[in-house]
Amino acid sequence: MAYNLLKGKKGIIFGALNDMSIAWHVAEKAYEEGAEFLLTNTPVSMRLGEIDELAKKCHTEVIACDATKEKDIEELVQTAIEKYGKIDFVLHSIGMSPNVRKKLSYDKLNYDYYHKTLDISAMSFHKVISVLKKHDAMNDWGSIIALSYVAAQRTLYGYNDMADAKSLLESIARSFGYIYGRESKVRINTISQSPTMTTAGSGIKGIDGLMDFTERMSPLGNATASECADYCITMFSDLTKKVTMQNLYHDGGFSNMGMSLRAMTQYNKSLNVSGNKEW
Ligand SMILES: NC(=O)c1ccc[n+]([C@@H]2O[C@H](COP(=O)([O-])OP(=O)(O)OC[C@H]3O[C@@H](n4cnc5c(N)ncnc54)[C@H](O)[C@@H]3O)[C@@H](O)[C@H]2O)c1
Repeated sequence: MAYNLLKGKKGIIFGALNDMSIAWHVAEKAYEEGAEFLLTNTPVSMRLGEIDELAKKCHTEVIACDATKEKDIEELVQTAIEKYGKIDFVLHSIGMSPNVRKKLSYDKLNYDYYHKTLDISAMSFHKVISVLKKHDAMNDWGSIIALSYVAAQRTLYGYNDMADAKSLLESIARSFGYIYGRESKVRINTISQSPTMTTAGSGIKGIDGLMDFTERMSPLGNATASECADYCITMFSDLTKKVTMQNLYHDGGFSNMGMSLRAMTQYNKSLNVSGNKEW
């Protein structure tokens, strides 16, 4: 059901690759809620993914942009300004770690890859905000969101150098949130989402087991990509105007749990099966 929450609002959505992508769901819902926006992704992802199909559905266009390249971001933001004037919302839904891809563990990182992880998954957020600010591209009370994960605060097996990238991403939201809020009333937040089965998600070591664990641990269960999109829409809307510089958990309660009955039951079962009587 649509509520016209984004009627008249304009934006840019980074990171829709295919219909599993969180950004894909955000674009569909933003369109339903009355927004107009540009879609963007890297040229490779545009070729390999299905973003053109999404653009057709949302009656918009796709602008190529590698979010690590300031020149690409400049061109994208210029296009948005020419098309819409100032804009109201931006979604940064970008993540990639070459170390994860190459299955290099955290104690044996390749440092060139590590730089790439941080550049793609975190510094790109700084670059995007910086270009938006330089061109005074955001309307007052505009909203900028990036997607994060609880591995920024807690160690989760297999998340590797992406944990460091998410810590940096969340810090950028706070540091830039102060400056952009003070100067132009633009709010900047991160949403810390449950593990979700997307192309990026499926790269995480042991994602199936992790999703089962977080599902059992969270009183409300894992949040889906579609539910994450709902939250992004509320954060882009005028209903959340005074929320800024926050890392907002959207994880069914997982981040505040220690142990749940459902998880404990499963854990005990596994100890029983192995014949371990320690518990
Ligand atoms: N899937 C999960 O479990 C999960 C959980 C929490 C947070 N997140 C975060 O959500 C965001 C979106 O990921 P997703 O799960 O929808 O997966 P996804 O694979 O669908 O999206 C990742 C996107 O990043 C884009 N990208 C990679 N390098 C880029 C670059 N240099 N410039 C521009 N775009 C680039 C890819 O093309 C892709 O569209 C990421 O930040 C991810 O870390 C995902």
